[in-house]
Amino acid sequence: MRKVISPGRVNLIGEHTDYSYGYVMPMAIDLHTIFLYAAHETISVYSSFFNEFIEVGVGPARKTHKWIDYILGIYYVLFNMNLKPGGIKGELQGNLPIGVGLSSSASLEMAVVMALNESYALGLNRLEMTMVGKKAENDFIGIPSGILDQFAVSFGKENHAIFLDTESLQHEYIPFPSDVQVIVFNTGIKRELASTEYANRKKIVENSLEILKKKSSKYVEEKDLRILPKLYAKRMGYVVRENMRVVMARDFLKSGRIEEFGRLLMESHNDIANNYEVSSPELDFIVSESLKQKALGARLTGAGFGGSAIILSYKERSSIIAESLYKEYRRHFNLEASYYFVHPSEGVTIV
Ligand code: GLA
Repeated sequence: MRKVISPGRVNLIGEHTDYSYGYVMPMAIDLHTIFLYAAHETISVYSSFFNEFIEVGVGPARKTHKWIDYILGIYYVLFNMNLKPGGIKGELQGNLPIGVGLSSSASLEMAVVMALNESYALGLNRLEMTMVGKKAENDFIGIPSGILDQFAVSFGKENHAIFLDTESLQHEYIPFPSDVQVIVFNTGIKRELASTEYANRKKIVENSLEILKKKSSKYVEEKDLRILPKLYAKRMGYVVRENMRVVMARDFLKSGRIEEFGRLLMESHNDIANNYEVSSPELDFIVSESLKQKALGARLTGAGFGGSAIILSYKERSSIIAESLYKEYRRHFNLEASYYFVHPSEGVTIV
């Protein structure tokens, strides 16, 4: 058996900007999907998380609404590209929590495409594999997401954040300060609204770009928004400011101005909550409580509507912040949350 290790991701800043070809700044994290695999005649995989074994033949498949769909989705895209890998057997393991906004789906997709690429010498490079993962998510799973998640999972680099222009796909690795901790705080709320509301936001942004005759939100300025309907202008205003914040965040991180970087995270959260309206009372609570606890910054990460927040703090304060937040959160919402101390990590790798 071979082994592929595929990380999850957090997005530090640049939220809901990827589907309008704006800027994002994610990092891969050291919580992983592990896929032990070998070439086989059929697709026969055991998931230790779901404690379930599934076997299906290789060939055109329908969505089953189970975890195997992320594997079938990769086959679907590869077959459409006329690459025809054989089957695969193996076992899925790992410690990446599923469905909490840390891109467990992209992580699994990238593990599978990498395993197939290697087993059947498909000859895809990392960027091509990334696109296969995104296409599986868009065309088979049916989520109209951007490139953020698969890119971060593929191109992660230990101790670095990634500044990515999602239009040109040019990216830059930025060293992440070793005295700063990223805490992921999972609200424990399922992201039920996420897929419909996500598609709504995307439509508004696409319509706005069409009216403005721009390919990317990077080329839009706030003054351009006057010609848009009111709700469109409100949503696009957020996107335009968020793109600018990602560029500033890159510069702050590069020049070691971590407190200013933290403040941008907080501004980003307030703006997305008020003007893009994808936050939730639980996420807002986490952000305001962590600032009371002297975190450097905090914001929702990923699509929003539940899922997880990230908190940035100096390492020496991180345990105190996480523990007190955990208690306060439980007291306030009577909900069981969970938190993780994460570090910027390598992208998907065969070991
Ligand atoms: C989800 C999507 C990404 C991105 C984020 C929001 O994670 O999969 O493509 O749009 O939401 O930034």
